[in-house]
Amino acid sequence: MRAPPLIAGNWKKFGRLADLAELDRLAAAFGAKAAVQIVLCLPATLLAMGAARARGAIALGAQDCDARSDGAHTGDISAAMMADAGAEFVILGHSERRRDHGETNETVAAKAKAALAAGLTPIICVGETLEDRQAGRAEAVVVGQAIASLPLEGAGQCVLAYEPVWAIGTGLTPSASDIEAMHHAVKSALAARFAGAWDGRVLYGGSVNPKNAEEIFRVAGVDGALVGAASLKSAEFGAIIRSHPLYEAN
Ligand code: PGA
Repeated sequence: MRAPPLIAGNWKKFGRLADLAELDRLAAAFGAKAAVQIVLCLPATLLAMGAARARGAIALGAQDCDARSDGAHTGDISAAMMADAGAEFVILGHSERRRDHGETNETVAAKAKAALAAGLTPIICVGETLEDRQAGRAEAVVVGQAIASLPLEGAGQCVLAYEPVWAIGTGLTPSASDIEAMHHAVKSALAARFAGAWDGRVLYGGSVNPKNAEEIFRVAGVDGALVGAASLKSAEFGAIIRSHPLYEAN
């Protein structure tokens, strides 16, 4: 069976305990809507408490994990710890981590391997810079990142998120035809690379909001969205979820 569309929120480095009231509202509103899978990726500090509050109605994700297992690595959090705290997903290789922490495709692939071993579903982010796009190499860059960031084993269990760096937090989005072309390029390349064994979901991310979400969801090859700023408030995130063509109210 084809996996359902996935709409994932990414709170980034925002959120205090009091903000879990937003999660309560989401869980109350969207508990049983199986046609669209909803995930909220919380800061690590809120995961365990969030899991107690979400009670399975909304799946939770972490925003990163260490590639190594538990050990003497001060300040790092292993994939198994994230899973223990209640995460089912983990965002990996977000462009902010590639930029702020120098994460390479190889780092991301190693983290994805650890995440899979801990039972987490990695949401692996890839995306071109504006410079790449203007130079006409966006597809080559994104396909290259996708192939090198997926772990060799278990690639088919990973979700990819195409997030143009220039679209994140800027209010800018690529045209529908550019999104379609990129999703098609990535899916064909991965099917070829993994000998047809790759049939995973590819999300779009970057300035998704309640106004543009439906148009983006209707683009061929788009299997959902990764939403940053607009996921912080349940009203906005909820409006994005409801705008998915497969979403059905109870
Ligand atoms: P944005 O962020 O929706 O705020 O642009 C998306 C992301 O970085 O995942």
